[in-house]
Amino acid sequence: MTFARIAGTGGYLPERVVTNKDLEEMVDTTDDWIRDRSGIKRRHIAAKGEKTSDLAVVAAERAIEAAGMDVSEVDLIIVATSTPDKVFPSTACIVQRRLGLRKIPAFDVNAACSGFIYALDVANRFISTGGARNALVIGSETMSRILDWTDRSTCVLFGDGAGAVLLRASNEAGIISTHIHSDGEFEELLHVPAGISSGYDTVQQEAAFIHMKGNEVFRKAVSTLGNIARETLSGNNIKQEDLAWLVPHQANLRIITAAAKKLELSMDQVIVTVDEHANTSSASIPLALDVAIRDGRIKRGELLLFEAFGAGFTWGSALVRY
Ligand code: COA
Repeated sequence: MTFARIAGTGGYLPERVVTNKDLEEMVDTTDDWIRDRSGIKRRHIAAKGEKTSDLAVVAAERAIEAAGMDVSEVDLIIVATSTPDKVFPSTACIVQRRLGLRKIPAFDVNAACSGFIYALDVANRFISTGGARNALVIGSETMSRILDWTDRSTCVLFGDGAGAVLLRASNEAGIISTHIHSDGEFEELLHVPAGISSGYDTVQQEAAFIHMKGNEVFRKAVSTLGNIARETLSGNNIKQEDLAWLVPHQANLRIITAAAKKLELSMDQVIVTVDEHANTSSASIPLALDVAIRDGRIKRGELLLFEAFGAGFTWGSALVRY
């Protein structure tokens, strides 16, 4: 059997850091409120003209370097994003050109904050069926571009960044299982109403920004993440105590803490970056993974659980032997 194994990871955060104190100058909020309700202390914001593909390319180069591979060995690129550079071509095609690659398949996946898990699921299917041997899976976002910087209920929660994973075909596990779900019923609880087929001329500027019913999203996220964790563990006959690390989507520290509690994991076994990165949507899991691999917490052979929840609603998980 062929598995997709994580050969290397990379991350990139834009240089500019915006603290909660900085936001106090912009909207009616306080550092205390943001820390208390979300766990966020600061976020990175892309420079003017810095695009999602720019972030993705650096993260990808770092993942390729960490894997000790030559870029020419990459034979599939999937970019998870809901903030692409352009309507088309896909951000993945732009990344492909910037990496100096030709002809290999490259495409985007949009599943909002669950995008990385969806992209990982697809790449895993490519590798396990012989369709690719070395797949770059990137989550990259410039969330700052779809934020209303006068809306305190959303602008304090998001940040920009990119994370990448290089998956390599191997006889050893690898990605053990992936689980993805969606329910379009909840479209309007978390959305950016503007879109291409809605017609630009009829769209108010505010429709181009994130609209969220935070409280309802929060409740749904907590219950759904509990269910997906149970589905993943029982589907693989794995017990909570077999897990070394939970690497969750980083939206809110209270959501992460509730997920850890349901899994009876100590917070020492949970990778948390939401304090430093805020919610970087599809970039948050690969960024958190990269941080914890590089600082030596996550070690080869350990069992990891990734889980995410986002607009759609979409949700998903992956059980991974690193
Ligand atoms: N600063 C100060 N006060 C704020 C604020 C801010 N930045 N944003 C909202 N408030 C106020 C609200 O206006 C409200 O005031 P009111 O009671 O006078 O009406 C009060 O704080 C409570 O708002 P509420 O939305 O009920 O707070 P909450 O405890 O639910 O926390 C979120 C808000 C957004 C942090 C939380 O709901 C959340 O994290 N939701 C999920 C978000 C998420 O994960 N989204 C992405 C999914 S991938």
